[in-house]
Amino acid sequence: QQKFRKDYAPPPYTISTVHLDFVLGEETTTVTSRLHLLPNYGALAEGASRPALPLDGRKDVKLVRVSVGGTQLSAGQYELSEKLLTLKDLPAGEFDIEVVTEIRPQDNSLLEGLYKSSGNFCTQCEAEGFRGITFFLDRPDVMAKYTTRIEADEGAYPVLLGNGNLKETGKMEGGRHFAVWEDPFPKPCYLFALVAGKLSMKERTYTTCSGRNVALRIFVQEENLCKVDHALDSLVKSMKWDEDTFGLEYDLDLFNIVAVDDFNMGAMENKSLNIFNSRLVLASPQTATDLDYSRIEGVVGHEYFHNWTGNRVTCRDWFQLTLKEGLTVFRDQEFTADMNSRPVKRIEDVMMLRSSQFTEDAGPMAHPIRPESYIKMDNFYTLTVYEKGSEVVRLYDTLLGKEGFRKGMELYFKRHDGHAVTCDDFLAAMADANNVNLDTLGRWYSQAGTPHLHVSTSYDAAAKTYTLTCKQHTPPSPGQDNKLPVLIPIKMGLLGPDGADMPLRLRGTDGSVQDLGTTGVLRFEEAETSFVFEGVEVEPVPSLLRGFSAPVKMEVEGQTDEQLLFLLAHDSDPFNRWEAGQRLSKKLLLKLYAAAAAAGGAHNSQAVAERCTAAGGVPEAMVSAFRSVLSDKDLDGSFKSMAVSLPTGNELLDALQGGDPPLLHHVRMYVVKQLALQLRPELETLVKSNDDPAGEPYHFNAAACARRAIKNRCLAMLSSLEEPEITSMLLDRFKAATNMTDEIAALSCLVELAGPERDTALAAFYDKFRNEPLVLLKWLGLQATSNAPGNVSLVKSLVDHPAFNVTNPNNCYSLFLGFGRSPVNFHAADGSGYAFMGDAVLRVDGINHQVAARMVSAFTTWRQYDTERQAMMRAQLERIVAHPGLSENVFEIASKSLK
Ligand code: ARG
Ligand code: ZN
Repeated sequence: QQKFRKDYAPPPYTISTVHLDFVLGEETTTVTSRLHLLPNYGALAEGASRPALPLDGRKDVKLVRVSVGGTQLSAGQYELSEKLLTLKDLPAGEFDIEVVTEIRPQDNSLLEGLYKSSGNFCTQCEAEGFRGITFFLDRPDVMAKYTTRIEADEGAYPVLLGNGNLKETGKMEGGRHFAVWEDPFPKPCYLFALVAGKLSMKERTYTTCSGRNVALRIFVQEENLCKVDHALDSLVKSMKWDEDTFGLEYDLDLFNIVAVDDFNMGAMENKSLNIFNSRLVLASPQTATDLDYSRIEGVVGHEYFHNWTGNRVTCRDWFQLTLKEGLTVFRDQEFTADMNSRPVKRIEDVMMLRSSQFTEDAGPMAHPIRPESYIKMDNFYTLTVYEKGSEVVRLYDTLLGKEGFRKGMELYFKRHDGHAVTCDDFLAAMADANNVNLDTLGRWYSQAGTPHLHVSTSYDAAAKTYTLTCKQHTPPSPGQDNKLPVLIPIKMGLLGPDGADMPLRLRGTDGSVQDLGTTGVLRFEEAETSFVFEGVEVEPVPSLLRGFSAPVKMEVEGQTDEQLLFLLAHDSDPFNRWEAGQRLSKKLLLKLYAAAAAAGGAHNSQAVAERCTAAGGVPEAMVSAFRSVLSDKDLDGSFKSMAVSLPTGNELLDALQGGDPPLLHHVRMYVVKQLALQLRPELETLVKSNDDPAGEPYHFNAAACARRAIKNRCLAMLSSLEEPEITSMLLDRFKAATNMTDEIAALSCLVELAGPERDTALAAFYDKFRNEPLVLLKWLGLQATSNAPGNVSLVKSLVDHPAFNVTNPNNCYSLFLGFGRSPVNFHAADGSGYAFMGDAVLRVDGINHQVAARMVSAFTTWRQYDTERQAMMRAQLERIVAHPGLSENVFEIASKSLK
């Protein structure tokens, strides 16, 4: 059942047009599909018969009849298995086939194909959901023009939506009605979409750069109509940004977005009919946080940008997924950076990459951004394909510059518009448009694992030269023992004693000197290279990998705390200022963890704190560096907030051998508390000075978000002191909050504290939002993720709470994945957290394979932990793999994790 990239072969037939007719019903839904097929097998050898046509299907799709060239086939004339309908003895040349199937969308709990959510019909076809609707060549290199006729009861399903343009509507007998939609652009079936239901709509008009008027419409359930303005604003901004940045314009007169509550992933870029998880559309100040607002903006952009990078130019096969996803994530990151704060966005993305993607890349599921094999494609919508994929696209941008990158994009569209292509095609367009060789960049597509970059420096005072010696290697990963060097663009500067950047004069191999200004990009693509700078009057402090110019783990030999403090105070690159603080914190946390682990003894916060203090605690130099950051009048609040936040537990575990998560958590909390103790006056001042003036309405913009970010960070640090006055101040703030950002910030502090305030606040919050399902997700998530001791039993009881619905993916993600993020309770030493999660995976797998597969990923990092925990996590994985009737989705992740 494993598929391999090397086995790619074009399909024996292609499809030019698809006519779909849906008769939607409460019991059965009937789908009639008429396809026009073209031979694609080329010249046949003497006497060879024409190839068979294998059409993908699914076991819950019932074949009613199939005709070829107008003649219905009898049972003996085709082959039908659970997953395949095979037609043989097909006519020469072009021909038509008609396939009639019956499906039961109301019973489709997989949420792949056609299903029902809140009483409405909707679809999700990527990656291989279309085969859950009808038998088809379900592969992205088959691109056809679609016409869709939808028929349904008018009272229950007044809104009927399809891809493209609305061609016809009409009423029928018995209270039924229909609509016909026609999409003029050829597309793979994974971009097909249909929606039918009771929906309300809000509309806006956008005029494109060439003067086309586009109707932008967002469809939601009636009660949510008041929460779509932000998504509409975001869509308008996205359209404008893509015109300004890449000259890319929208290509139809209509762009629809539909929000649904039951959705496996975030959102889907179906041609002109995007379908979104409602949590990525709906926002009001009272129900959504700043983070929600910013995710909505980013995802609305992402799905819109797919219209060019994904839809107009699509993937030849699913191994190429990063061609569209890596590129589109890069585009949405740039969009967000331009709309808000560029350094803040970059830091957020790198934090996520380090805490989650690096872990994936170091574990048993490690795969290149272009995987070599898969069992279920849905398991490869990973952080590696998306986020590392975006980092790889960023490498072109860093090397070629904005102009060069745009030239590459233009050539890519010129060559490939309307086609299904590969990652190699993208690389070739970038290289050809700029006339550069990018072969070593290409290796990023085939090698898994995070490259290690080792830099050593030397200064020759007599010659006034400064040398950076760079070495790289990529550790082995499953199936890949030896790796080649990759192209690593090292963006860098050299700081003089005054903290300012020095001019960079790079000596070439031929002795010539190149002027790089004050920030240069070194092209490093061998196992080892030395870069020599001339005219360096005094020994500088190097600032390397500015803006995180490559997704690598960098070690700078001999880098001292003094140098890091200097960079934190002076680096002209804001990312590297933040980075210097992170490196300092990481060193300290790893040192304290080692001391706390070596000393043995109890693992409660009190005992761990004593051992940390004995090991030297938090040095004064670090406290005062953070103090300067916090009091710096020129720094933005969001940046300050990130500068004083510690590296995540995941990131630290990645650097430890066999870590103990609860112990690490207590060490981390110890450092937070020490900082809070010593920086208390600064924290209290920042809380006061960043409070929203009374009566000020909520605004989502960089300045307002920055104020809330630093204020709430300071409150969280203060709450670690566990002082009664602070706790009651938090409860007051919780009660008085006028927006969800502040409300949830206060609540999440209270949830970590053991005291009556915790229960009071949780109960009040539930009462207030019992009719807001998206807010209840936060309520579930906060309790699930809490590190309050013994929380496993509370989480177990939440599974039976009326607010929890196990068939809804968002509910499972909040509760189960949320629980999996608790270092204390998921990783409880008695294994109770693991057993709970194992049970939950098996239960959910009986309902929804994709959701269960995401849950089982909580176990894939088992090698990161101590031997007792490894054994317990393995035991859960073994139990899961042995479970009868397990889905392929869960099987793939669990079995590969054990290898
Ligand atoms: N193409 C969608 C996006 O990134 C994601 C769809 C994922 N679906 C899935 N079943 N894995 O925008
Ligand atoms: Zn995408």
